[in-house]
Amino acid sequence: MNICFIGSGYVGLVSGVLFSDFGNLVYCVDKDKKKIANLENGKIPIYEPGLEELVIKNFKAKKIKFTTDLIKSIRQSQIIFIAVGTPSSKDGSSADLSGVFNVARIISKNINSYKIIVTKSTVPLGTGDKIESILKLNNSSKKFDVVSNPEFLREGDAIRDFRFPDRVVIGTNNPDKVIPIMKSLYAPIINKGAKFLVVERRAAELIKYASNAFLATKITFINEIANLCEKTSINIDDIALGIGSDARIGSRFLRAGPAYGGSCFPKDTKALVKTARNLNIDLSLVSNVIKSNDKRSSLILSKILKILKNKKNQKIGFLGVTFKANTDDMRDSSSLKIIPGLIKNGYNVSYYDPTGKKDIFNQYNSSLEYIDNLSDLVTKSDLVVIHTEWDEFKSINFIELKKNKKLIIFDLRNLYDPKSFLNKKIKYFSIGRPFNV
Ligand code: UDX
Repeated sequence: MNICFIGSGYVGLVSGVLFSDFGNLVYCVDKDKKKIANLENGKIPIYEPGLEELVIKNFKAKKIKFTTDLIKSIRQSQIIFIAVGTPSSKDGSSADLSGVFNVARIISKNINSYKIIVTKSTVPLGTGDKIESILKLNNSSKKFDVVSNPEFLREGDAIRDFRFPDRVVIGTNNPDKVIPIMKSLYAPIINKGAKFLVVERRAAELIKYASNAFLATKITFINEIANLCEKTSINIDDIALGIGSDARIGSRFLRAGPAYGGSCFPKDTKALVKTARNLNIDLSLVSNVIKSNDKRSSLILSKILKILKNKKNQKIGFLGVTFKANTDDMRDSSSLKIIPGLIKNGYNVSYYDPTGKKDIFNQYNSSLEYIDNLSDLVTKSDLVVIHTEWDEFKSINFIELKKNKKLIIFDLRNLYDPKSFLNKKIKYFSIGRPFNV
């Protein structure tokens, strides 16, 4: 099948290359000429384990084409995925859909045979209806169908999540025509056991938002219970195991830590509350999740300040600054609040990240140093803050690296056993476990 992805960002690139790996001819379109030229040379704009190899393999096999020629790609494809960015709107409370509608207008003028237009970008409830009206301006409704097919890929695990999803959701108001085609596109995944759910189009749009809001709620719940554990010397890991063993609750997404971040949870929870508010529905639970998560970075900052006891000469080293491990993405990372907070309080901070120095921190040059090496960072620091859960942070020989000096560790991801630091001239703090601040 010939398909095209409009927007070769995270979602477009990962999904596009995997569909090409299944044997389709895929056009990955982007208006950014430099990005397209780089992709043709095997240079990937994002960090995603395994993606580069797949891009190079399928590009060489001529199964994926990178192009800026949107019109040609539309005309040659039967299925057109809209995967352009939907950033937060200026006031931060909803999604900016100008990119999506722009693309819809161009598609509208270039429908030369029956096409399925699929929204892959996360779009608010009713966006499919709006796209449909744009397409109807120039075409009879028999020439196209608009479908919602949300993605549930996690950064860092995107390739595995694409190949082995818990479910594929197809939202359509014309299932008889659309489903056989979408089913054959997803056949390699369905044949491996993924659930294939067919729902009404707007239901699919809401499933995506409700999923992310639920997961954000789950994380926020365990983070708040961790606060309670800290006051009562109870181990949050025992609680997560205890409640997670109930199949109705489930054990995943119960890792207490810093505030959740990334390109989806913060943006999607806010957009969902806004959509509901416009319909006079008060999603008070999700609103409070947003508030609780916003407060969490200040809480972690105040804990670090408490550990430091106002000793301004203490050197603070951050291990990992992205919003989680296995990604280079800084979007809504809690480090963006905690590190400037420490600098504002007069501390010097250094950081190491497996994905390198971050331009977004350049503004703090004099008070924030990037150290290109984990061992040096630990050796130079009085307080090490473990901010993300990269594998290389999980078995650091702190005793050897600290030399003879004292060291404090604040492990925001509970990667170590607190007892292993007893009597080692290392003070160890973590989240929601005994021995805490
Ligand atoms: C998320 C959804 O999981 C994915 O389905 C959707 O398509 C996009 O948004 P992603 O943002 O890549 O994916 O990361 P995810 O692994 O879900 O983590 C999001 C945030 O929650 C991170 O800040 C992470 O550190 C945090 N988190 C996750 C926890 O604090 N505890 C957990 O148990 C799980």
